[in-house]
Amino acid sequence: MHKDVPDVIVGARKHAPLLVALGDEENFIASDTPAIIEYTKKTIYLEDNEIAVVTKDKLKITDIDGKEIIKKVEILPWEPAALSKQGFKHFMLKEIHEQPDVIRNVLNGKIYDIDAPVRLDEVKIDKEILKKLNKIQIIACGTSLHAALAGKYLIENFAGISVEVEASSEYIYRKTTTDSSTLVIGVSQSGETADTITAIKQAKEKKSHVLIITNRPDSNMARLADSLIPVNAGIEVSVAATKSYSAQLISFYLLSIYLAEIKGSLDKDYLKNIKHELIKIPSKIEEILSDIEPIKACAKSFSSYKNFIYISRGINLSTAYEGALKLKEISYINATGYAAGELKHGPIAMLDETMPVLAILIPGGVTYEKILSNCEEAKARNAKLIALTSSSDSNLESIFNVVIRIPSVSEILSPAITCVPLQLLAYYIAEFLGKDVDQPRNLAKSVTVE
Ligand code: AGP
Repeated sequence: MHKDVPDVIVGARKHAPLLVALGDEENFIASDTPAIIEYTKKTIYLEDNEIAVVTKDKLKITDIDGKEIIKKVEILPWEPAALSKQGFKHFMLKEIHEQPDVIRNVLNGKIYDIDAPVRLDEVKIDKEILKKLNKIQIIACGTSLHAALAGKYLIENFAGISVEVEASSEYIYRKTTTDSSTLVIGVSQSGETADTITAIKQAKEKKSHVLIITNRPDSNMARLADSLIPVNAGIEVSVAATKSYSAQLISFYLLSIYLAEIKGSLDKDYLKNIKHELIKIPSKIEEILSDIEPIKACAKSFSSYKNFIYISRGINLSTAYEGALKLKEISYINATGYAAGELKHGPIAMLDETMPVLAILIPGGVTYEKILSNCEEAKARNAKLIALTSSSDSNLESIFNVVIRIPSVSEILSPAITCVPLQLLAYYIAEFLGKDVDQPRNLAKSVTVE
């Protein structure tokens, strides 16, 4: 803006998102749609090196040489109501409560009959190529990286395809083995994370097929995709991702089942059971959300601790990482996720009565007894213990200071449920401490710088 030219805003885009929105006798420039959805749904996304000159009733877009460009006006799919807290104290709490419907939405049209194969028409790779696929790389950051870790576990377990998971910020500064036969999956809530966009561009240069899992089909990342799985979680306002994480997780369940069905790598009855259980996940989360008092009480009694350790093994290791990240982000309490078996290789030295240990342990699988014995080791060092479990074993109360129970669920599907109490625990600890839950300090919803 310039003082000699009032009522004119000039915007230029370079390596960070920028859009122009067209209202009624008012136009806008913004970096993301939540800023304008209250006023208009008509948007134009600028590309790098494009310049917009905007007044209240005129718009001119040019390239860097001043040549005018006519751009398509897109209509946003969201209602302004998506930006209301709808009676909840914070967007984060509202978004946690939206998860059952978000999951129903992700599953909708993909599993329509448990006897029929999962439909994932979004994957634009020939099934004969998928049958022979032997390398997948998943790149993401933060919470999306944790969904990716669960995705690796699922794809390797269900489809037997080797999967590497890497933080985008690491991937982009090394020589990778990505090639034209690698399927590269980028995961991002915002679709605008600079590190992941750079990683995706590098993978495309190596001629890999790029599949993007994002909550923003209107994003830059989505536009780079060869295959696009939009997770349809609806707009997420809280900086701390919750419902978009659940939607990413469920997308990985669908993708891994889809790959397993193409490869014929799983027993039909097992697949049927998995699909049957997947459909029931939303109602199990509703059960948790209908009685959050035990989680609130736990949050209250643990809100004064300065450090936490979250442990698990197997598929819930990613949940431990994600639960710890949620706590760090919104309460500023130091929390670290560890593979439970790794405790004895170092972290155990930190344990005493000032360091609570939260363990995620789901019976029926291969990890339960092992995690339990890791917890006993922690107890012997006077650590306060919290269990997050679907076990009904009443002996747990004699080992753990607090037991948070969730509905019965198989270990392989449990991350879709175990994430919810951990989101609530982080939320209520931050709330008790009076933190700015929706907009934690130093964080942004889209990280558009490398
Ligand atoms: C999640 O709670 C965080 N705000 C953060 O870790 C986030 O997941 C990360 O910045 C990646 O963002 P993206 O999913 O939009 O790519």
